[in-house]
Amino acid sequence: MTDGRCPVSHADLAPHRLDPTGARQHAVNEELRARGAAVPVLLPGDVPGYAITRHEELKDFVTHPDVAKNACHFAALQRDELPPGWPMRTFATVRGMITADGEDHKRLRSLVTRAFTPRRVDALHPVVHELTGTLLDRLAAAAAADPDGVADLRRHFALPLPMSVICRLLGVDDQYQDRLHELSNEIVSTHTAPERVPDANREMVAILGQVAAARAKDPGDDLTSALIAAREEDGDRLAQEELIGTLMLTIIAGHETTLNLITNAVRALCNHRDQLDLVRSGTASWADVVEETLRYDGPVSYFPFRYPTRDLPVGDTVIPKGAPVLVSYTAAGRDERAYGPDAGRFDVTRGARHLSFGHGAHFCLGAPLARMEAVIALEALFTRFPDLDLAVPDEELVPHPSFVGNSPQRLPIRLG
Ligand code: HEM
Repeated sequence: MTDGRCPVSHADLAPHRLDPTGARQHAVNEELRARGAAVPVLLPGDVPGYAITRHEELKDFVTHPDVAKNACHFAALQRDELPPGWPMRTFATVRGMITADGEDHKRLRSLVTRAFTPRRVDALHPVVHELTGTLLDRLAAAAAADPDGVADLRRHFALPLPMSVICRLLGVDDQYQDRLHELSNEIVSTHTAPERVPDANREMVAILGQVAAARAKDPGDDLTSALIAAREEDGDRLAQEELIGTLMLTIIAGHETTLNLITNAVRALCNHRDQLDLVRSGTASWADVVEETLRYDGPVSYFPFRYPTRDLPVGDTVIPKGAPVLVSYTAAGRDERAYGPDAGRFDVTRGARHLSFGHGAHFCLGAPLARMEAVIALEALFTRFPDLDLAVPDEELVPHPSFVGNSPQRLPIRLG
């Protein structure tokens, strides 16, 4: 150094405190990617962890043989060092494939894969069309009832569509839908009072217990009945706790994410009408819009948790054995190392592959369903309301407060 100052290593900077409001998501992610391949972070309750935000390193990390998902590797949990009522405990300790490794993971995943067949997804095609039509009527009614002609696209369309679809898929009665969304939202939101999270968890487990009992007594052509049947065929290979954990995971993963995808796609198209024109002229497809939105404004932000089973170097940082690591799929989607200097540009003709459905053994099981829902929803929305536009300037949109999800809390629109 010529100026006499010591070089500053980005890895030595103070840990980045995760912002519970989710503000400036993409700008913060850019700073974290610049800081290193793995950045020390403070989780809620000042629990130390790490975040991986670069595309290549994320891919390597999630497939590394010395990286686990089972919380038996979570050092602070095992040493009982987590604050009481720690709001992220549910993510670490829910029983199901998302927190399982190796053979245990294969067993749980194969039961769901067998029940979640392409035939079952195809059968949902007409259901998604019909629900989309009904919800567009409701969206129009909501806008008509507002003195300024404004409706919240997230609340009236992007949320109820995947929620109704996932409930149909799982054989959950309509009466539970709204409550299940509220509970799921309390579990993923950073604005929930920490002491509420265990209660929300318990209530969700109780409702899903009732759903499972009803389907066991009166099986239907739904995923829950199929899971119960698969369990019986295989001599109780799926414990009751795992069945409930699987239902819970499917409900949360199946709607919070698709909701963000639809919301983010509408936002991006309103802000880039030239890209919408490319779809209208046939140069690009609705599927291209969905894939580019997944990359450009990925629905899943910081995904909890993975734990190195030994001290593990990632870039120039060594992540200690047992530390909780978040991988940021939203951040990886804008990594200039992977997508070039214009990674921050929404370009539906890009044709780039993204990691937004994960990578490796835990790759999203619901990807075909999410893609189908988003394509049908966007095409129907912009066909019926070609002049649909944001009702507020983009910079006024407030992010939904969550570490795991990425989308605005409300998307006020005018239908034109
Ligand atoms: C896993 C994203 C929709 C069910 C994942 C993972 C990601 C993801 C990133 C991997 C998590 C990890 O790092 O371990 C998304 C996105 C969606 C979506 C962006 C919508 C746009 C769905 C839907 C369902 C679903 C609709 C179910 C109907 C699951 C399940 C897993 C999973 C069961 C766990 C797989 C395993 O651990 O082996 N998803 N997901 N997802 N997703 Fe999705």
